[in-house]
Amino acid sequence: MIETYYDIITKIENFVDGLMIVDENGLIKYNKQFAKGPFQIDEKQSLGKTPMEVFPNLTEETSTCYRALKYGETTKNQLQTLNHNGVEITVLDTTFPVIEKGKVIGAVSTTRFMETSLTNDFIDLSTMTSSHKTDFYEISDIMGSSEGIQLLKYKIHKVSKTSSSVLIYGETGTGKELVAQSIHSSSSRRSSRFISQNCAAIPHTLLESIFFGTTKGIYTGAENKPGIFELADGGTIFLDEINSMDLSMQAKLLKAIEEKKVTRIGSSESKKIDVRIIAAVNENPLDCINSNKMRKDLYYRLSSLQIKVPPLRERKTDIPELLDHFIKIFNSEIDINITGVSDEVYDIFKRYDWPGNIREFRNTVESAMNFATSETIEKQDLPETLLNKEISRSHASGYGYGNLNEAVAKFEKDFILSRSKDIKSLSELAERLDISKQSLNYKLKKYSLNL
Ligand SMILES: Nc1ncnc2c1ncn2[C@@H]1O[C@H](COP(=O)(O)OP(=O)(O)OP(=O)(O)O)[C@@H](O)[C@H]1O
Ligand SMILES: [Mg+2]
Repeated sequence: MIETYYDIITKIENFVDGLMIVDENGLIKYNKQFAKGPFQIDEKQSLGKTPMEVFPNLTEETSTCYRALKYGETTKNQLQTLNHNGVEITVLDTTFPVIEKGKVIGAVSTTRFMETSLTNDFIDLSTMTSSHKTDFYEISDIMGSSEGIQLLKYKIHKVSKTSSSVLIYGETGTGKELVAQSIHSSSSRRSSRFISQNCAAIPHTLLESIFFGTTKGIYTGAENKPGIFELADGGTIFLDEINSMDLSMQAKLLKAIEEKKVTRIGSSESKKIDVRIIAAVNENPLDCINSNKMRKDLYYRLSSLQIKVPPLRERKTDIPELLDHFIKIFNSEIDINITGVSDEVYDIFKRYDWPGNIREFRNTVESAMNFATSETIEKQDLPETLLNKEISRSHASGYGYGNLNEAVAKFEKDFILSRSKDIKSLSELAERLDISKQSLNYKLKKYSLNL
């Protein structure tokens, strides 16, 4: 029960501007705002609701609490827009899942308003209650020794020695965030800020003020606010899903990168800044250009240093190492002692193509470890969704590469044969198959079956 953690969790109050706790069902159990802001949260009114109901601009994809519950994801210092009663505010969000015996039992979300976060140093809230890794990832956290991973590590090592922009691309769950953080933590910028911003999570109209900041204006009603470029001066900005950024904003970003200067909205003064940009896309960048999701000039600016993170299906030799790694992690988290997987499970792992990549692999191992009844993970411990996908895939591949009609015919023949065991008459078989006797006769002829 998340309530048993209240004592520790609420100690965070002294350091943050807002604190929200949700239970395992995503329902708000606690929601307080400590600092004055453009809106005031009424805790009573939000209890029992979901964050999406209190902040209607949030979706399942952008709500960090929802992601913490669903994917066990920790969010660190991510800028997020919250809309409440028609008023909008930009906050720095740190959210982490609360995990008990391997099960996510709730999530804690802390927010800091952009103005206060300038004066107070970022503190790492996740150290206080979560057993999750707290520092930024380093190269040594990247598991695997396949050629793909060796090349990846080599590239990270190389690019961390420079300050040039980097473009990372890789499918979902391949470890792009891990790579971006590793670049930051191996670089000379490691003691400065790393700000991660998902470009898809913020409305286009707000992105410019979030990037470059605003100055107090009589007409605009804007406040004096730094943008992330100023906040991350001397450090690194990670722009995730840059292909979802509006093209005109991409042009402004390019200008800022080239001139190494930013101008707050409403100001005529530009400020010199020194940030390293790491951008990420989850599809092939050339496809992004062709489909007009990314400006060519921005691509050329970013692509001198390009890092591709290979999908798991292209480096299945890493599976044993990843498996050991995650078993170790969850053995200590769940407090059990799993030693490995059965040969059958290992074969399934090798055969499956892991569309959700390492994230899916990690979640699969975690889930199986929770269900395991012996020291070895057996097939029945695997999530049903994975088994279903695996089975349908392996069955389908058993039908060769013919066309659909051929495959259906092969299936029909196999199915009739499988049901014909110990039948006493063809009528009995027709009944078992729930078809007419004429239809059965026709099919027996068609497939030259002599039963
Ligand atoms: N090589 C690796 N070794 C160990 N853990 C890894 C590795 N790659 C990824 N992970 C883990 O897999 C999970 C997903 O990684 P990450 O969040 O970096 O992926 P992503 O590419 O940013 O995904 P998305 O596109 O969905 O944002 C994380 O828990 C991360 O720690
Ligand atoms: Mg990511």
